[in-house]
Amino acid sequence: MPSETLAALRPRTGGRYLDGTLGGAGHSEAILSASSPDGFLCGCDRDDDALEAAGRRLSRFPGRFELRRGNFSEAADWIPAGTLDGVLLDLGVSSHQIDSPDRGFSFQHDGPLDMRMDRRGGPTAADMVNGLPTEELARIFWKWGEERESRRIARALESERRMRPFTTTLSLAGFIESLVPRRGSRIHPATRVFQALRIAVNEELASLQSALPALFALLRPQGRLAVITFHSLEDRIVKDYFRTEAREYDVQGTYDHPDFRIPRAARGLDLHRRGLVATDEETQANPRSRSARLRVLERL
Ligand SMILES: C[S@@+](CC[C@H](N)C(=O)[O-])C[C@H]1O[C@@H](n2cnc3c(N)ncnc32)[C@H](O)[C@@H]1O
Repeated sequence: MPSETLAALRPRTGGRYLDGTLGGAGHSEAILSASSPDGFLCGCDRDDDALEAAGRRLSRFPGRFELRRGNFSEAADWIPAGTLDGVLLDLGVSSHQIDSPDRGFSFQHDGPLDMRMDRRGGPTAADMVNGLPTEELARIFWKWGEERESRRIARALESERRMRPFTTTLSLAGFIESLVPRRGSRIHPATRVFQALRIAVNEELASLQSALPALFALLRPQGRLAVITFHSLEDRIVKDYFRTEAREYDVQGTYDHPDFRIPRAARGLDLHRRGLVATDEETQANPRSRSARLRVLERL
């Protein structure tokens, strides 16, 4: 939903923006075009390939952007608070990552079972599948893949890996398919396990949770934080955070009961309480946008 995202961010001449998920820099390019001649863009991505691609694509805007490799949750380390007019997070994996077999994100092609966005370190998906205790694997598949067969899959992986560790995407996908047959579903039985592993390898939900308040603090009054999510786990985190900023009280403790509310001014305006979804036209052109949801929070 590029046009809705751009409309939400309202890029303007002289404005300053952060794209926390550069990817192929399609959104960044649109922001820089719309804020010509002197809008400025800070951009980051955890993935080296994305930085390279973004640098090439944005080279026609010399002096108007600064790109850094890193997690968007650390943007406050290099961007002063209260200085931005807009922040964008377009979460998940890029088409480049999905389409590159050597990255191990997809079981459409065979490749190493890696799934790291940042390949400088940290455990790969293979490390997790071959090394984590069964209960921990089951918890990951259940919590982040919403996989109903999480325990059965984890137990079967545990006994299989003792003889033959899993090293490739197709070996894992094929093994799961042999355990959990499709039963007419169009969705491959390994889809949920792959999603769960990707979230775990990249600590995606923890990054998002800690990033939202940090990124909101980078905005000037009237600045906007726009977040595009691709599954309900991400969307719930964004929705809950936006609601917290938009309400006119703090909660004492963890339970929101009227007796424990401490009045305060709202800090943000939640512009689309249900979020915006892609139009039929867009989902036809780009099937991946079917599960996308855009939420926008304006700083007051
Ligand atoms: C869906 S793509 C972004 C596509 C981009 N908006 C475009 O127009 O091409 C998501 C990108 O965000 C990056 N990413 C995901 N989580 C990140 C994080 N916590 N910090 C930095 N980059 C992240 C991924 O590496 C990927 O390149």
